[in-house]
Formats: sequence, structure tokens, C-alpha cells
Amino acid sequence: MLELAVGSGEMMAKIAARNPTGFNVGMDLSPQMALATERRLRKEHLEAFCAIGASDCRNIPFKNCCFETVFSCLVLELLSHDEIMRTLHEARRVLKPGGVFILIVLGTDRGYFNSYYRVASSLAPSLLGRQLGQAELGLLGAAGFRIEKSASVVQRWYPTRVVVSRMT
Ligand SMILES: C[S@@+](CC[C@H](N)C(=O)[O-])C[C@H]1O[C@@H](n2cnc3c(N)ncnc32)[C@H](O)[C@@H]1O
Repeated sequence: MLELAVGSGEMMAKIAARNPTGFNVGMDLSPQMALATERRLRKEHLEAFCAIGASDCRNIPFKNCCFETVFSCLVLELLSHDEIMRTLHEARRVLKPGGVFILIVLGTDRGYFNSYYRVASSLAPSLLGRQLGQAELGLLGAAGFRIEKSASVVQRWYPTRVVVSRMT
């Protein structure tokens, strides 16, 4: 599987623990983040293969049809509409036929969180980005994915939407 923007590897660690015999690859735009996360995962998940590189999810450095699953958590919020479309096309390109794309975005169904986020993201727009709506989730269909499951999940204290889609 491939995770598009691993950050500190919180999600990647869970994935590696559940996929110890698989090939777990991650990427992050920040080389420092990629290096630190790879070191951490290799130390904590000796049993799993984990490789993290510094790369841009808008231009994924893998050949076509390499992965069974592509995973993206809280990064599309940082991209423009066109960049999201480009990233989704890239995710589809590197998936094997019938592959699964798992997307986690910030949820929009909690009023208290929306108010808080509006203020916080106006103070640090490049750090926090923006909440995505139906228009952006609709891009999944345009990029060649069919949504199979969509669920609202509170993670720690913040709401998220988990969307599981498959290549059409
Ligand atoms: C909010 S963090 C999410 C990290 C991780 N997915 C998680 O949920 O714990 C966003 C991460 O996306 C990375 N990032 C931002 N733009 C990116 C891009 N174009 N390509 C790859 N990574 C990117 C940032 O460096 C940062 O580590």
C-alpha cells in the first residue's frame, strides 16, 4: 500500500501493524518528516517492510499499477481544487486494476468544529488548509473512482469522513 502524505506516521504505523507481510510505502513533501518517520517506523515495526520517501503527492514517483491500496489522510485540505484533481488522477494511475483508494478528510457535520476551524484556518491557512465539501468529494467520481463506503468517524476529538472508493 501507499500513503500519500505520512506526516509523523500515525496512520502509517497502524497500517504497518496490520500489514506486516506487505509492502508499505509512504511519502511526504517534507524530506525531514519523511526521514524521521521512516526511522521511527523501522524501529517500532521491525516486523513490517516500511519505506518512506520525500515526494509530492501531485506527482507520484511510481510506475502505473503498482499498489493495491492508496491511502490519504488529511492532506487534500492543503491543496487547491486543481491539485486535488491531479492527486486523485495520480492515485488512480499507480493503483492496480480494481485497487482501493481510502480517503480521510475533516468532517463537516459538527457545527462547533466548523466554527473553530474557520477561525483557526484563517489564522494559519497554509498549515490548516480548509474543510472540503461535497464538490471536492465529487472529484472522486470524475477521477475514476466509485465510492463504496462513506462514514463519519470522530478521531480523538475531531470529526472526520472516511471514504472508501474503488477504481471503476
Ligand atoms: C496534516 S498532516 C497529515 C499527516 C498524516 N497523513 C496523518 O494523518 O497523520 C499533512 C502532511 O502532508 C504533507 N504534505 C503537504 N503537501 C504535500 C504534498 N503535496 N505531497 C506530499 N505531502 C504533502 C505535509 O508535509 C504534512 O506532513
